[in-house]
Order: sequence, then C-alpha cells, then structure tokens
Amino acid sequence: MDRTPDNHEDIVDYLQRQHTEIRALFAEVAKTTGEHRRDRFRELVRLLAVHETAEELVVHPAVRDLTGGKKLAEARLGEEHRAKELLSTLDKLGPGRDGFDTLLEQLREDVLAHAEHEERDEFPLLRKKLSAERRRAMASTAKTAESIAPTHPHPGVEGSTANLLLGPPVAIVDRARDAIRSALNR
Ligand SMILES: [Fe+2]
Ligand SMILES: [Fe+2]
Repeated sequence: MDRTPDNHEDIVDYLQRQHTEIRALFAEVAKTTGEHRRDRFRELVRLLAVHETAEELVVHPAVRDLTGGKKLAEARLGEEHRAKELLSTLDKLGPGRDGFDTLLEQLREDVLAHAEHEERDEFPLLRKKLSAERRRAMASTAKTAESIAPTHPHPGVEGSTANLLLGPPVAIVDRARDAIRSALNR
C-alpha cells in the first residue's frame, strides 16, 4: 500500500485512501488468527478512530454548510456515532472471545455501507463545491489526527504514544479531536 505523504493530496483522496485501508484491514482481521489477528485488529481500531473523527470534525460540518448537505451530514454523523459505540464494545470484548466474530461482521457491514454513502453523496459534493485549495487545507487538518495516533506506528514507539495506541478507542478519539480542534483554531 502506498503510504507516501503527498502534499497535493486533497481531503477526498486522503479519505478514499483510508477507506481502501479500512476495507483491507477488515478482510485481514477476518482471515487471520492469534497474535497476528490481535495486531491487525488494533490497527483497525486506531485507523477507524482517527478516520471517523476527522470526518466528524472536518468533512461533515463542511457538507452541512452546502445546499442540500444538512440531511446528508446528519445521517453520516449518526452512522459514525453508532460505529464508534460498536467499536468500543468489540474492543472491550477482544478477538478470540465468544461473540467477537458476529459483532465484527456487523461492524464491517455498517462501516463499509457508511463509507459507500460518503463516497456516493459527500465526496462528489466536496469536489464540486469546494476549491482545490480548501480541499487540500482540509486534508492537512485531518492529518493532524494521525500525528497523535499514528495508524502505522514504527517499532520502538514508547511512552505515552505507545500507551495511547493500546488504549481504548474512546481515548484515541479524544486525542484526535483535540489535535484537530487545535489545528482548526490555528
Ligand atoms: Fe465516516
Ligand atoms: Fe469515511
């Protein structure tokens, strides 16, 4: 997977790329076992927490301000809220426990349907109505969430970052929100 940072990438390219990674990670968690599966699941938790938080604070508010965007944005926010709750339930349960596979499949269906709605309704609207400059600025803001909770941590990551990465989804979401809010207020 290409993870090279691209300064010309706009918000739609960036989120689309994360959707591809999310789909791939769900497939990997479904087909792996043991420690490998736990690692992939942690990666999925981090990526979903960071991704959905960036959309919540950067994308849906912009869509809501566009003509016809209010209903779309509110429906997506509701789906994200439900997905985060299910993600927390799954995270508490942990891979290997009874019921995990059923809940994981439910989360996968919900998240992928949600991503399709965004790709179908919101992304084309952003491309059509917002300038390329604004879309690139939105990508930079969204990326600040990744800096607090890297989705692909390097080996040897230590201290509070490492603890955070092992922490519950709600802690990652809170840190991502703080990072994005401070970027928005800059
Ligand atoms: Fe989303
Ligand atoms: Fe998304």
